[in-house]
Amino acid sequence: MRDAAPTTIYLKDYTPFGYLVDSVHLTFDLADHATRVTSRIAFRPNPNASDPTFFLHGEDLTLISATIDGVDIAPDVTDKGLTADAPNVPFVWEAEVEIDPGNNTALEGLYMSNGMYCTQCEAEGFRKITYYPDRPDVMSTFTVRINGDLPVLLSNGNPSDKGDGWAEWTDPWPKPAYLFALVAGDLIAHPGQFTTMSGRDVELNLWVRPGDEGKCAFGMEALKKSMKWDEDVYGREYDLDVFNIVAVDDFNMGAMENKGLNIFNSSAVLASPETSTDMNFERIEAIIAHEYFHNWTGNRITCRDWFQLCLKEGLTVFRDAQFTSDMRSASVKRIHDAIDLRARQFPEDNGPLSHPVRPESFQEINNFYTSTVYEKGAEVIGMLKRLVGDDAYAKALDLYFDRHDGQACTIEDWLKVFEDTTGRDLSQFNRWYSQSGTPRVFVSDDWVDGTYTLTLNQKTEPTPGQSEKLPQVIPIAVGLLNDNGDEVRATEVLEFTEAEQSFTFSGLAAKPTPSILREFSAPVILEQDQTDAVHAFLLAHDTDPFNRWQAGRSLAQEALIGMILRDAAPNADYLDGLLAVLRDQTLDPAYRALMLGLPTQSELATALHQKGKTPDPMAIWTAVETLRQATAQHMQDLLPRLHAEAEVDVPYSPDAEQSGKRALGSAALGLTSRLDGGVKAAADYAKADNMTLQLSALACLLRAGKGEAELAAFYDQWQHDRLVVDKWFGLQASMAHPDSAADIARDLTKHAEFNWKNPNRFRALMGSLAMNHAGFHRQDGAGYALLAEWLIRLDPVNPQTTARMCSAFQTWKRYDRSRQAQMRENLTRIAETPDLSRDTTEMVSRILDA
Ligand code: PHE
Ligand code: ZN
Repeated sequence: MRDAAPTTIYLKDYTPFGYLVDSVHLTFDLADHATRVTSRIAFRPNPNASDPTFFLHGEDLTLISATIDGVDIAPDVTDKGLTADAPNVPFVWEAEVEIDPGNNTALEGLYMSNGMYCTQCEAEGFRKITYYPDRPDVMSTFTVRINGDLPVLLSNGNPSDKGDGWAEWTDPWPKPAYLFALVAGDLIAHPGQFTTMSGRDVELNLWVRPGDEGKCAFGMEALKKSMKWDEDVYGREYDLDVFNIVAVDDFNMGAMENKGLNIFNSSAVLASPETSTDMNFERIEAIIAHEYFHNWTGNRITCRDWFQLCLKEGLTVFRDAQFTSDMRSASVKRIHDAIDLRARQFPEDNGPLSHPVRPESFQEINNFYTSTVYEKGAEVIGMLKRLVGDDAYAKALDLYFDRHDGQACTIEDWLKVFEDTTGRDLSQFNRWYSQSGTPRVFVSDDWVDGTYTLTLNQKTEPTPGQSEKLPQVIPIAVGLLNDNGDEVRATEVLEFTEAEQSFTFSGLAAKPTPSILREFSAPVILEQDQTDAVHAFLLAHDTDPFNRWQAGRSLAQEALIGMILRDAAPNADYLDGLLAVLRDQTLDPAYRALMLGLPTQSELATALHQKGKTPDPMAIWTAVETLRQATAQHMQDLLPRLHAEAEVDVPYSPDAEQSGKRALGSAALGLTSRLDGGVKAAADYAKADNMTLQLSALACLLRAGKGEAELAAFYDQWQHDRLVVDKWFGLQASMAHPDSAADIARDLTKHAEFNWKNPNRFRALMGSLAMNHAGFHRQDGAGYALLAEWLIRLDPVNPQTTARMCSAFQTWKRYDRSRQAQMRENLTRIAETPDLSRDTTEMVSRILDA
């Protein structure tokens, strides 16, 4: 461990910086190991601040010179930054520093990837470029001059001048330093054009390395659609003459919304039908939209401090989800989001890493780019919209953009625009931002003299640092059905605000069946003692597509739990109900494909844990396999028809309709492979002409214990394409039998192409192993040991990616003693590694403190 005790930063300690910045001029003289950065910054005292300390952040910088108003100074320099005496009138700061992008493997600040210079400054990376008040509430215009002998030199804003070996960029919009970006490389543009709603022409470019030109068209179209959608739905227009996107191979996250110069992980932007799956296309469309939407929600209006991260991320995720719903199918998107939230956010919120959507303290902010901040943050906005209604939501957003344009804001500012628009008091709603943990909602009902009563109870378990929980405002969308499956009450939203609360429905002819939490109206766990017969009824009749899907999911989950705990036979209600739904050709193929899904094994482990049982990963795996086998047999006659329905005889397109058909086809192929041992999958593999089909056929073969020849052929075919090679690594670890997953993964770490310093490659292998639930949790601890060993190796190279991947261990306390002990031992091994990064130290100690 580091000898210095880690420092914790608290929201309550916020104070504004003592100076405002009026302008920033930067000059970069690029060189692999000795880039010079010269800064000229106009400061003036901040009238709203009381502390005049002039402290500038700076890390891993070699200071060459510093002046104030042209006079050399000798600041007090530490490894965190510098302090100098500053006048209490406006002044100009100038400094020159040297940095080493060629050795920057952490991928934060200015770094190199395949000969290309590139930056990543969010959250606190700008301080690795030059001395600066690196905090989001300090906003300024930037002018940047880049000197370098690479053909393409880019920064934020509009190009203002250029010559041989240099270029200058000017960004007229004040921004915090975390939105700064610079790219220099041998790049090719895929150009595009957009005319904004007020008639301004914007030049668009998607910059890629030579060889990737053929993978740009889809991303460019997604960008244009996003620009149009934000005008149509939010009235938000783009505000520069150019918009550049750059694809880079080495990147810790998905993408980054730097003003006018978005930087994307190649995997989040490059796509072609031969190399990308339908799911890749959908994800790329969503990420392009997400980063573009940040131009207003994040850039024009930014965060006062990093505790307010959800202000931009929750809202922008909510906006990209709306976009995807409009471009594709709203109900399919909602189901995807619920699956995702339960798979990633619920385990986080119900374990040692649980934190509020707006955290109150942190040691390393990089550890708070979590699914709680992002996805639960988006759910909170969805609930707000449901509570105030669509019209008030639109008015509140207009007011938000009007009132706060150009500012660095807080959640209080955000809620205030809703209070001012609607006259509502949102202080109780604010608990969604301050209370961690997933509320559980318990339902009971009563039927007396034509009046139906639903009684709801809410309870949230204690979470780290929060033992007492107060009731939250939970919008519960409810509809009532009669015995024929007709709606006797259309969906209405109950505002559930007390610990216990009853809602009555009168004037009914007979006791109805309730459909509760329609559209997944709140990110809660619904605890409802419903019989299989009621689930089966809702699976057949619910008029809400989400809850109809949910009924099937609940039936499946109950069936699996019965199989695990009581050795029960596969549930006939589930098998019959599923068959009926799959037969119904009026239902969207994408929706039927989702119906064929099962809860993840990790979700089942959570469900068992919540019932007070110790989950046995192999027993869970066996139950899932058995239910799959039974499903395949039960649907035997239907499977060929599902395949046929999924055949597409028009040219490939990643649109919702075609990809829905392929999703159904590949789900059917998965079941077929359980009956024919992979014969059809091998045939499909041989004739696949797009990556979606190729990969799903290969997955079926591997799951059936076959496919060795195909796996080798796949590698030969695609070894030149790094994004496909990532898939090749990932598939082997995720489809492997639990007994051999850790061994297969260990062998793959010896493969010549296991470039572990590349985050995509590392995650493809180690992340997939961690997702193979029974494989990762193998009894002898081989999965844990392998992951720990590699996290220890990666930490000094790339702390951010290492720390994020520690979350694979977050559920350690729910398993049996032996597994717990092995996980604790591996976590301790990581914690005791000399010079462990602050990122990983914080994660491991939070997990161990459970
Ligand atoms: N702000 C980025 C996004 O969500 C995510 C990100 C965070 C990227 C930190 C890099 C580093 O759009
Ligand atoms: Zn974002």
